[in-house]
This record gives sequence, structure tokens and C-alpha cells, in this order.
Amino acid sequence: MKSALILVLMAATAHAVAVPVATPLSAAADIGKQMFFDQSLSGSGKLSCASCHDPAHAHAPANSLSVQIGGDKLKTPGVRAVPSLRYQEYTPPYEDMLDNPDGISTPGPGGGHTQDGRAATLAEQAKIPLLAKHEMANKSADDVVRKIKVSAYAEQFRQIFGADIFKDNKQAFLRALDALQAYQLEDNSFHPYSSKYDRYSSNKIGGDLTAAEMRGFAVYSDPNKGNCFACHYNGAGLNGSVKLFTDFTYAAIGVPRNKDIPANRDARYYDMGICDRPDHPRPASAQYCGMFKTPTLRNVATRSAFFHNGVFKTLKDVIRFYNTRDTEPERWYPTVKGVVQKYNDLPKRYRENLDKQAPLDGRARGSKPAMTEQEMEDLEAFLNTLTDADLVKK
Ligand code: HEC
Ligand code: HEC
Repeated sequence: MKSALILVLMAATAHAVAVPVATPLSAAADIGKQMFFDQSLSGSGKLSCASCHDPAHAHAPANSLSVQIGGDKLKTPGVRAVPSLRYQEYTPPYEDMLDNPDGISTPGPGGGHTQDGRAATLAEQAKIPLLAKHEMANKSADDVVRKIKVSAYAEQFRQIFGADIFKDNKQAFLRALDALQAYQLEDNSFHPYSSKYDRYSSNKIGGDLTAAEMRGFAVYSDPNKGNCFACHYNGAGLNGSVKLFTDFTYAAIGVPRNKDIPANRDARYYDMGICDRPDHPRPASAQYCGMFKTPTLRNVATRSAFFHNGVFKTLKDVIRFYNTRDTEPERWYPTVKGVVQKYNDLPKRYRENLDKQAPLDGRARGSKPAMTEQEMEDLEAFLNTLTDADLVKK
């Protein structure tokens, strides 16, 4: 057993993590905060950023819907599951050949916000939901500025961005996007680093992992078992970041098609991730089809819809899917005329893009999976230690 004294000494010398200090928000971030919760900034008058990115749910939805409903009449379903907005602050802009933070893996597609990296910054990203027809559904940037002009923070907006700011809608809209970005970058609620794992990894009091959690961490880090760290990288990364549980890369892992997404009723429709980016015309960019961003696993245990299409509703199922996608495919994909429709959400011609790292290494149907039942349970226990303190159920 470690004594408290040793723990204190170790804490003093441990590698520094971003320490949660409550610094006041800048004036711009303060405006961004008000905007983040302002439902009047939507076509319906009922949706704010927080409606889909609820701080009480790690800035992800409070419900378990695969996709959320938005639009000017709150009747238009989205096409992708809503990610958490926590721990986005180190995400670099998208590149086809981004250096891997682990310093060993070869460069590849990485970075960017949204699950296909199409927004280089959080400011650029904020523009998407404000104008998207299935999200906040404002008619135009002018429409958004008109709403800000009559908001409770209009005067504050003028004081910070200039008395004449509302005479130039284009500038006013850009400042609004900057404000939303500043709020997400500055406010500690987006990156508290307050999980049990953070206490453990910086030798803080209360950071002792249980035997099951320790075993789960070993499964996570074992290249022949979970191998999770290979993509959900937890080492030191870019710009001094550490323990983000993602390396910002993209991979095709072949999750099952989700029939609950209305867009999927059209059999010709596929969401193919980064090969749908405007800078990736096909067929030249066919090598990217099916790839989505590796999300952080921080707070993953608080989620109730998983993967880009929200097809799974429990973390247990996700872990089991990784473990038995290849050994028991009939469990995950529909069977038609006796044939399992494996990888049914990616057209056949792109299936060579599927990642081949363990445990998704294409092992034979009926063969032994990478993890035992006990190891899956332990892995889940470990993933539970990644939940920030404000979200831990008392
Ligand atoms: C109707 C639900 C909805 C609303 C409202 C909404 N978002 Fe999102 N948000 C999403 C979805 C869905 C995605 C994933 C989009 C994708 O991958 O294409 C997303 C992604 C993001 C991301 C990228 C996260 C990542 O992992 O890369 C950020 C940042 C973000 N939203 C910020 C905001 C801000 C700021 C607002 C308010 C201006 C907002 N969102 C309003 C649904 C919503
Ligand atoms: C080859 C890289 C790779 C490996 C190895 C890997 N993942 Fe992932 N993970 C991804 C990618 C890419 C996604 C997003 C895929 C998608 O949405 O289609 C993802 C998504 C997830 C999600 C969904 C999170 C969310 O916010 O919806 C969970 C949970 C997850 N992975 C857990 C694990 C665990 C546990 C392991 C180890 C057993 C693991 N991953 C191994 C790349 C990987």
C-alpha cells in the first residue's frame, strides 16, 4: 500500500497535466457561453448548441437517439450521432498525411473537427450547425446576426467587437463564431481532466485503480488483446497534449448499418466519412471511403449512442463488437439467404480500406476472439475510469 505521504511527494514530481484552475472567461468567451445556451439562435427558436451538446452529458446528447432531430420545425433528423465536445482543444486541422502523435506509426489521414474533419477550427465548425437545415436551421449568416442584435448580450457584443460591429453582418458573424470557439477553448468544463484515470496517472490521492480496472488497462494496452491504445492513443501527443485517448487518425472499422437513421432507408445512400469531403473527389480518393475520426474515449461510459451512426447503445456491445466482429459476424450483421452481410454499411469496392489491426484483424469466423469474457468486463471497468468527476454518478 502506498502511504499518503508518498502519494503527495509523487504528485509534486509527476508529469504535469492540464490542471483545472478556474480562470475567468475572456469577454469573447463570455459571449460565446451565452450563445451556446441561446435557443433563439435557431430557426425553430428551440435549439441551442447545448440541446445536442449537454454539459451534464459530457457535452453530448441526454438521450440515446442515433441521430438528433432539428430543423426549423424540429422535424428534420440528422445523419450522424452527436459527439462529445470535450477534449477538442488539441485537435489539429485535417491533413491526408498527418504525423502520428505516437512518433512511430506512419503518417495518414488525421485531425479536424466533425467525424470527417471538415472544419479546421472550432470557429469554422460552429458555422455548420447554425446553418445546417437539420440542425439549428438559420436561413443565413445575416439571419443569425439579426438574432444576436436583439439578444440580451447585444450591448456586450458591441462593447467587445466595436460600436459599429452590427453594420457589417459578415464581420459580426465571424466574431460570433470566434466567441463560440473561445468559450469551448477557455471554459474548464470542456477539459476538466478530472477523471479517476487522471488522478491515477498523476499519482493523486483517490487515484488508486481497482484490480479489475488495472487488468482492464492492461487489456487496453496489449497489442494482442484490446489493442485500443493503437488508435485511442493515451500517450503524449501534439502541442504538449497528453492522455487524450485518441491520436486524431481516421480508420474504417466496418460498423453495421443503422436502420434507425431515416437517410439509410435509401439503399443507395452510404455515409462514407472522409471520402465524401469536397477535397476528396472519387475515384481518386476511393482509398479513404469508410474512414471516420477516432474519437476520444474520455467520458465514453456516459454515452448512450456509439460510433458515427449511433448504431450501438451500450459500451458493452461496442467492446463485444470489437472482439467478435470477425469471429461471430452473424451477431452484428443481418443474414440474407444464409449469407451474413458483413460490413453492410460500406459498399464492397471499398472494403479493402478496412483497418486490419487487432482485434479487427480479420480472424476466421468461429475462431477464438482476442479477449475473454473476463477481459471484456475488465476493459469496461477501465473505460469507466475515464469519466470526468462532474459526471460520475453518486
Ligand atoms: C441538432 C443537434 C446539434 C446542435 C444543435 C449542434 N450540434 Fe454540434 N454536432 C452535432 C453532430 C451530429 C455533430 C457531428 C457532425 C459530423 O460528424 O458530421 C456535431 C459536431 C460538433 C463538433 C465537432 C466535434 C468533433 O468531435 O469533431 C463541434 C465542435 C460542435 N458540434 C459544436 C457545436 C456548436 C458550437 C453548436 C452551436 C452553435 C452545435 N454544435 C450545435 C449536432 C449538433
Ligand atoms: C484501428 C483503430 C482503432 C482501434 C484499434 C480501436 N478503435 Fe475504437 N474507434 C476507432 C474509430 C475510427 C472509431 C470511430 C468509428 C466510426 O464511428 O465508424 C472508434 C470508435 C470507438 C468508440 C465509439 C465512441 C463514440 O464516441 O461513439 C468506442 C467506445 C471505441 N472506439 C472503443 C474502442 C476500444 C474499447 C478499443 C479496443 C478494444 C478500440 N476502440 C480499438 C478506431 C479504433
